This record gives sequence, structure tokens and C-alpha cells, in this order.
Amino acid sequence: MNKKDFIGKRFLSGITPSGDGSLHIGNYLGAVRQFIELSKSNETYLMVADLHALTTVQDRKQLANNIETLILNELALLAGGLGGVDGLKKIVFFRQSDVAEHTELQSIFNNVTPLGLIKRAHAYKDKLQGETKEEEINMGLFNYPILMASDILLYQTDLVPVGKDQKQHIEITRDIAERFNKIYQKQVFKLPEPYIQEEVAVVLGTDGKRKMSKSLGNTIAIFEPEDVIKKQVMGTYTDPTRVHATDPGHIEGNMVFAYLDHFGDKQHVTSMKEKYVAGKISDVEVKEYLFK
Ligand code: TRP
Repeated sequence: MNKKDFIGKRFLSGITPSGDGSLHIGNYLGAVRQFIELSKSNETYLMVADLHALTTVQDRKQLANNIETLILNELALLAGGLGGVDGLKKIVFFRQSDVAEHTELQSIFNNVTPLGLIKRAHAYKDKLQGETKEEEINMGLFNYPILMASDILLYQTDLVPVGKDQKQHIEITRDIAERFNKIYQKQVFKLPEPYIQEEVAVVLGTDGKRKMSKSLGNTIAIFEPEDVIKKQVMGTYTDPTRVHATDPGHIEGNMVFAYLDHFGDKQHVTSMKEKYVAGKISDVEVKEYLFK
């Protein structure tokens, strides 16, 4: 995609405060960083999708904590990337449940959405194919795509930055918009496009195998205490064929270098890579630098 194509467009995305609301470097590299860039030359809307979290988090206190943590984490990262608190003015940042129109629009969309369309949604289908019985699936999960369509269509969004796993939700959103426009014979809603950047779409975890995710325990945190982060960095997958620091090491698939490509000083990282391949620097030294 050409960068020029994305100037003056309206982007909208949401993060669900499930888990505990804290963000890790996978969230930063895969979503937040991209949002910061987009906000420099586009209109950007970012919401805390707390109503979506209700499908799994039903403890009032826990949800309140998750929301607060997520808001603080996001604001800190966004302000950091946009040159301070003033930079935040570039983003419309809000909580979904504070805008009643999201659920109002969902009620209306319920009537233009065919049952079959929602039955084909992956999130629901995957659950059914697993251990979960129909009795155990709540309507919030089933209707999830309709609420998400409301989130997006309410703001006449052009583009939705999401991970690959959310692509189908954007297709359903387009479907709902088309049906509404057809039934009411007016172009009321704009059809949005997914915005998926291939190279940042999946950030692998410290195990070097699976997508970085809190539930898999393979994250590097951002706002945890230093000793927690240090442990995560020190436990990161490097090169299993390398036994001694004097053995020639491999860069490919080495997660420490994969992260350093994003966070380290370019020149310093290049020279570290050369030393690593030549067996002149230890894993611990490279990890110490990543930690720093
Ligand atoms: N479903 C999205 C996710 O799990 C979160 C979300 C809710 C969202 N509403 C949205 C993303 C609207 C983009 C646009 O990641």
C-alpha cells in the first residue's frame, strides 16, 4: 500500500479491555505504533471497547480495573509517540460505553442483519467446534460482530486497522452497511476497508513460536516492574544451536534480535549481529542491551 494514499482518511480502531488491560511490546509494535504514525496525517479514532469485554469479563471490579489499566497504558504510549500530552489532541480517544449511540445503532442493525451471516462468524463457529456447547455461548459473543459494525459505521470510518483475525468482522460490517443502504435506498453508511500491515501483523512471542499474547505467557511487558521485564527478556528464545558464547550464532529466528530491530540503535544492533555470528558476544550481553 502506498503511504500517500493514507492522508486525510478516517481511521477507527478499538482495543478490548479483557486480559488485565496491560499492553506488551507485541501490542505496541502491532497496533499502537502504527496508530501513532497514522494519526500524524489522518483523522484517528481509538476506543476502549468495554462493551465487547462483557462477553468474557463479568466481574464489575475486574472490568473497572482492566479499563483503567488499558486507558493509562494507551495514553502513556500515545503521548510518548506523539511528543507529549499535547500530541494526544491528534487522536479522538474514548470509551465505547460512554457513547450510547453504539448500542442504539446495534439495536437497529439487528433488524437488517441475517442470522446466517452471523452464524458464519469465526469467533462463534470456533467456539462451537471446540468444547463449548450452544447453551454456554452468550448472545453478546454471538452478536459481537453487529456491535463492532456499529462501532465502525457510526463514525463513517474509511479504514480499520486490525489484525488478520479481525478481517472477517470488517467483511460483516460492510455487509451490514450494504444491506442497510439497500433497504433504506440511501447511501447512509460508508463501506469501510480493513487496514492490515503485513510486516507488523504478527509479532512473535518470547518463545519464538506463537503470536505474543498474555494468555500464552510469552510477552515482554512495558509497564511492569523492572525485575518482571528483566525475567521476560532473559527468558527470550535465541539460538538453540549455540552452547557457548564463542560458538557462531544465528540471527534468523532469534527473538532477541527480532525485537532489537525495532527498539535498538541501528548501528549498534548491526555491530552486535556481526559479533554474534562470529561468536564474539554472549547471549546475556545482547539480552542486557535489549532490556536497557
Ligand atoms: N474486536 C476487536 C478486537 O478484538 C476490538 C474492537 C471492538 C474493534 N470494536 C472495534 C476493532 C471496532 C476495530 C474497530 O481486536
